[in-house]
Amino acid sequence: MAIDFQRFFDCTSELHAFHADLSAALHAEYTAKPHGTDSHWDETLAQLPRFDSPNFKLTNYDLGSDRIRIGVPDGVDIDRDRTKHLLRNFMPWRKGPWEVLGIAIDTEWHSDWKWHRICPHISPLNDRRVLDIGTGNGYFLYRMLALGASLALGIDPTRLFLYQFQALQNLLPANNAHLLPLRSEHLPRFELFDTVFSLGVLYHQRSPLDHLTELLNFARTGGELVIETLVVPGNEDTILVPQDRYAKMANVWFLPSTGALHNLLHRAGYVNIRLVDVNQTSVKEQRATEWMGFQSLQDFLDPADSQLTVEGYPAPRRAVFIANKA
Ligand SMILES: C[S@@+](CC[C@H](N)C(=O)[O-])C[C@H]1O[C@@H](n2cnc3c(N)ncnc32)[C@H](O)[C@@H]1O
Repeated sequence: MAIDFQRFFDCTSELHAFHADLSAALHAEYTAKPHGTDSHWDETLAQLPRFDSPNFKLTNYDLGSDRIRIGVPDGVDIDRDRTKHLLRNFMPWRKGPWEVLGIAIDTEWHSDWKWHRICPHISPLNDRRVLDIGTGNGYFLYRMLALGASLALGIDPTRLFLYQFQALQNLLPANNAHLLPLRSEHLPRFELFDTVFSLGVLYHQRSPLDHLTELLNFARTGGELVIETLVVPGNEDTILVPQDRYAKMANVWFLPSTGALHNLLHRAGYVNIRLVDVNQTSVKEQRATEWMGFQSLQDFLDPADSQLTVEGYPAPRRAVFIANKA
C-alpha cells in the first residue's frame, strides 16, 4: 500500500501517549482492510508529480485562499494534460475548490462558503491543536493551518479522500496537516485538542448523542467545539427521522431543529452553547461539475418546489453551533 503514516507519527510528539493506540487502529481499519480500488489509486499516486523533497523550494502555494492553490516549482516542467488525467482518476472531487499545478479543480461543494460562515465565529487558531472529524479530503485542514494552527489532524474513513489528500500533500513542503483513515469511534480519549470540528457529520450518525459525547472526549478542558449539521424548521421538540432516504441520501438518520440540537448539546454536557449561523444550501454551493459527474443538490429537490426534497422533507438547511467543554 502506497500510503504510510510515518510522517504523522514523526511530527506529533504531543500525541506520543496515543501513538500505540492509533497505530493499532490504523492497522485494523486500514492495513488489514484493503479497498478494491487501492491498487489503481496507488498507481495513480505513483505517477503524479511530487515535490515534497528538500530539493524543491516551494514558495508558490497558498493554503489560505478560497481556491487553495498549489503552484509548479520554479524550473519544473509539468505535462498538464497528463496530470489532469491522473487527478481525474481520483474523481469524484467533492470538497474544494483547488488549483493544483495550474489545473482548476471545480469541486461539487464550495467548501470555502462553509468556511466563511464558520470562520468569523471561532476562537483564533494561532498555535492551536485542531481536530477535524469527517474531514473529507482535508480542504479545511489547510484553511486551519493557514490561520496558524500548530497541528491540524483530520480523520475520515473514506479511502478516496485519503488518496486525494495524499496527492496534494506530495506537492507541498512538509506541514502539520495529517489525515488518518479512521472513524471517530476508533480514536482514543485525547482530551487535549484546543478546537474540535465536526462539520457535516452528525446526521450520518445513528446515535447523535453518543457522537456529541465522543467529541467532548477529544477536547481539553475549556476547549472549543464547532458542530455543523443539517437542521429542520420547528420548535425545540422537533426532530425529523427520515422514513428512508433524505435528499436521496440513505445514511441520514436524524435532523433536529436548532432548539432540539441546543438541548442535545446541553444534555451531552456542553457549555456556553451558541447558534452562530443557519443557512439553506443553494444549488450554487452544491452542484455537479466537471470533477463530480454524479447527481447533486438540484436533483435532490422537488422539481415543483425547491423548498422540499424529492421525498417531501424540508430542503437542506445547515446550522453551526459553537460551544465549550466545561
Ligand atoms: C458530508 S461529509 C462532510 C465533509 C466535511 N467535513 C465538510 O463539512 O464538507 C461527511 C464526512 O464524514 C465522514 N464520516 C462519517 N461518519 C464519520 C465518523 N464517525 N468519523 C469520522 N468521519 C466520519 C464521511 O466519510 C464523510 O467524508
